Amino acid sequence: MEPVRVDVPTPSRQYVITLGDGVLDRLTRLLDDVKAPARRFVVSSPTVWRFHGHRFAKASDAEPILVTDGERYKQMPTVARVYEALIKSNADRGSTLITFGGGVIGDLAGFAAATYLRGIALVHVPTTLLAQVDAAIGGKVGVNHPLGKNLIGAFYQPHAVVVDPSVLGTLPRREFRAGLYEVIKYGMTSSPSLFARVAQEQKAIFAREPGVLTAVIAESCRIKAAVVVADEKEAGLRRILNFGHTAGHALEAVTRYRRFRHGEAVGYGMLVAAELAVTRGVLAETDRRALADVVARLGPLPPIADISVAHVLEAMKHDKKMVDGRLHFVLPTAIGSTSIVDDVSEKEMRRALTRVGLKK
Ligand SMILES: NC(=O)c1ccc[n+]([C@@H]2O[C@H](COP(=O)([O-])OP(=O)(O)OC[C@H]3O[C@@H](n4cnc5c(N)ncnc54)[C@H](O)[C@@H]3O)[C@@H](O)[C@H]2O)c1
Ligand SMILES: [Zn+2]
Repeated sequence: MEPVRVDVPTPSRQYVITLGDGVLDRLTRLLDDVKAPARRFVVSSPTVWRFHGHRFAKASDAEPILVTDGERYKQMPTVARVYEALIKSNADRGSTLITFGGGVIGDLAGFAAATYLRGIALVHVPTTLLAQVDAAIGGKVGVNHPLGKNLIGAFYQPHAVVVDPSVLGTLPRREFRAGLYEVIKYGMTSSPSLFARVAQEQKAIFAREPGVLTAVIAESCRIKAAVVVADEKEAGLRRILNFGHTAGHALEAVTRYRRFRHGEAVGYGMLVAAELAVTRGVLAETDRRALADVVARLGPLPPIADISVAHVLEAMKHDKKMVDGRLHFVLPTAIGSTSIVDDVSEKEMRRALTRVGLKK
């Protein structure tokens, strides 16, 4: 099958996402085609490299730099290790940095590429479902600060993104599901057909059947790319991608990023937004239930009954999406459409959080 190509013509750089089973094996040609500078480095993690390093090494002679990839390591000291390896190898402006891993590797090594010598060429080869449909597209790179998540970063578009769904075969089921919540998010914000597909073809998706999986990833990439192209720096439209993320981020924060995979917290966050929308009368109860059904059928989410509403409300007040003291909140208005409001009251939020199952 011919690979799918999704163009991402952002104002700061035009690039292409190449997607298909086996595209990893053609990496060198793909990078030569986009004139990615010839000296190449690949930043990956020991885990990803153990599973797929031999395949990568066959496809490219990029010099490997391995760093540990838990969320805990998405910090400046790890970026410093990448700088150090680049400096010791005399990497210059004629170098390309390839990221080969999940969102943690993509974000932190992408940040290294954006800042080393004020920026060298960057290519993402994402290996988790979340990174393939989300993190690798759009140019956000960065790291966490001990005082908060994703506080240090930049917008830095890659030269290319190469997505090979066959690497997902080794991804733990929980990680795979975590990525699917973001796919559901795209369905809810932008595509009734993608939503229906995840609802109806869940079995094939879980079996990671290449045809279905590729189609789902391709549609997600198209949606993210279109939003990013229209609003590269998140001044407006890109905010719709925050659907489910306000309550989601708060849940992650109050559990110190230990209980939920990011996507799982977004799963709850979407339910909270839907409750709010139904109460306001902007979303039909049938649509809310359709969302709740898909989320429930994906599998169990970590418990929330011990988390207090007050605690989550407090965390929301520290959200990055606060602008001039007002929280921008994405409400679903139907499957495939949303509206952004900035007048959600504490009372409404309290009610929605309680209905989803948090402790009063
Ligand atoms: N830049 C963006 O726009 C953006 C968007 C969404 C999320 N993110 C960031 O992405 C990060 C989360 O990314 P993630 O969910 O990919 O997590 P991750 O990078 O931590 O990867 C999850 C786990 O899967 C392992 N893994 C990766 N690929 C594998 C494979 N093919 N087979 C087996 N194991 C594999 C990793 O070693 C890791 O243990 C967060 O830090 C988040 O902030 C960034
Ligand atoms: Zn997300």
